[in-house]
Amino acid sequence: MLAVGTLGLAALGVLLPGTFAEGAISPERTPTDGARLDEGASIFLRGIAADGTPIRFRGGMRMRMSCGQCHGIDGKGRRHQMFVTPDIRYRNLTDPAGMLECDGSRGDTFTEAQIRNAIAAGVDPEGKPLAWPMPRWQLTQQQLDSLVAYLKALP
Ligand code: HEC
Repeated sequence: MLAVGTLGLAALGVLLPGTFAEGAISPERTPTDGARLDEGASIFLRGIAADGTPIRFRGGMRMRMSCGQCHGIDGKGRRHQMFVTPDIRYRNLTDPAGMLECDGSRGDTFTEAQIRNAIAAGVDPEGKPLAWPMPRWQLTQQQLDSLVAYLKALP
């Protein structure tokens, strides 16, 4: 388990040089036990597991892209040439008023389980498949815990 605090975050900056300069994380939002923010950051920003192997996925864009490359390193969503990606910060997805969509409308309020399902199974809270560019990510429980902890830490 990782001690998260100023010291922990400073250590992360050393573990992942360069990555935290842009993708700032907020220390008040601590991960669940066992989740590792450094692992979550590596998956989110680079699509690489803690052991250095690329995270496998099915479907979606054929091109290998990380969450951050598609959704923005701040997680706030991006406009791409052929599609737009939503704001996937935990705080947005779980907004009681409904998540703020790319077009400014309000969508579903995700539970944490539904966020996990969206990432791993590519379905929305009603069980309908997400738009085609979003891959289905083949993550271990530990990796998914760390990734969700990272989404929670995004300010
Ligand atoms: C190739 C681009 C791409 C990549 C890479 C990608 N996504 Fe997505 N993602 C999308 C698009 C497009 C949607 C919108 C789907 C929809 O609205 O039906 C989406 C939707 C989502 C949603 C559901 C939110 C919603 O409103 O539908 C979550 C959660 C999510 N992505 C998380 C992630 C995470 C975590 C990663 C990295 C492991 C990731 N995405 C990688 C394109 C991508």
